[in-house]
Amino acid sequence: MKKILITRKLIKSSEEYAASIFDVKLNKEDRVLTKDEVISQSNDCDGILTSLTEKLDADTISKLSGKIKIISNFAVGVGNIDLDAAKKRNIVVTNTPDVLTDATAEIAILVLLGAARRAKEGMEWTKKNWKWSADFLMGKQLTGSRLGILGMGRIGRAVADRARSFGMRIHYYNRSRLDKNLEKDAIYHKSFESLLSVSDFFSINCPATKETRHIINNKTIKHFPDGAIISNSARGDMIDDDAMVEALKNGKIFSLGLDVYNGEPNIHPEYLTLPNVFVLPHLGSATIKTRTAMGDLAINNVDEFFKTGKCVNCVNLN
Ligand code: GLV
Repeated sequence: MKKILITRKLIKSSEEYAASIFDVKLNKEDRVLTKDEVISQSNDCDGILTSLTEKLDADTISKLSGKIKIISNFAVGVGNIDLDAAKKRNIVVTNTPDVLTDATAEIAILVLLGAARRAKEGMEWTKKNWKWSADFLMGKQLTGSRLGILGMGRIGRAVADRARSFGMRIHYYNRSRLDKNLEKDAIYHKSFESLLSVSDFFSINCPATKETRHIINNKTIKHFPDGAIISNSARGDMIDDDAMVEALKNGKIFSLGLDVYNGEPNIHPEYLTLPNVFVLPHLGSATIKTRTAMGDLAINNVDEFFKTGKCVNCVNLN
């Protein structure tokens, strides 16, 4: 029986499933393990099932036991793992696509709406001093507005589908133009700046890579229409926080909705104090249905790999 370190607590049924096919080392307290603990606790294991809270950088991967053949990430994003370092050691890295698309697209719309309709201020007023007046907490309406989507993969397209039902016109920028059946009525922009210039609303749904790091910065923010609304439900890396805070303060950006941010859990302090930032703690896939499916898929990825030597959800060796 192969031995697997599961770095964080999973839904109970997934842990039971894992224990039925592997010898599992569980993290009963669900404490975030340090890099050294990941290395030492996985020393006698054949694989590791990681979560986005563990940073498997090149140094950590170089110190893993030679027995480790697979790192199965309990997430679709794999920015927490140095894929090249894993490849150099011939360690397969897998992720959990598809099963979390709908839940994550729902959160993308939630943070977009939360920012646009001033949900944070509204909640604070409700707690302090309920009030109503004709011009109180005026937000911006999605209906009839243009939504720019950065990254039209599975989640970006699911966000587009939901936004269409709000009567939004979809524009997008992607590594390449989509086929007509996937693009539907969305308008492709060859240049990122061109997309920004039409984005009354803007949703970040691309992977975190070297190319997308701080793609929203002092220079690119200038291209947005004045008073644009931005949401990020992908990874914090895409936003230069200092530039964003400045734009939120001077009104260039009306409001920001975040489910993710740089350095989680250490949020930029001004995101907590600015009234026009609506933040959630990385809840994208947090439904029982989705987290169960993700756990099972992360386990199945390991199983498939040990049975066949391959895995359809491998992201670094194909
Ligand atoms: C969540 O953020 C994921 O990448 O699965």
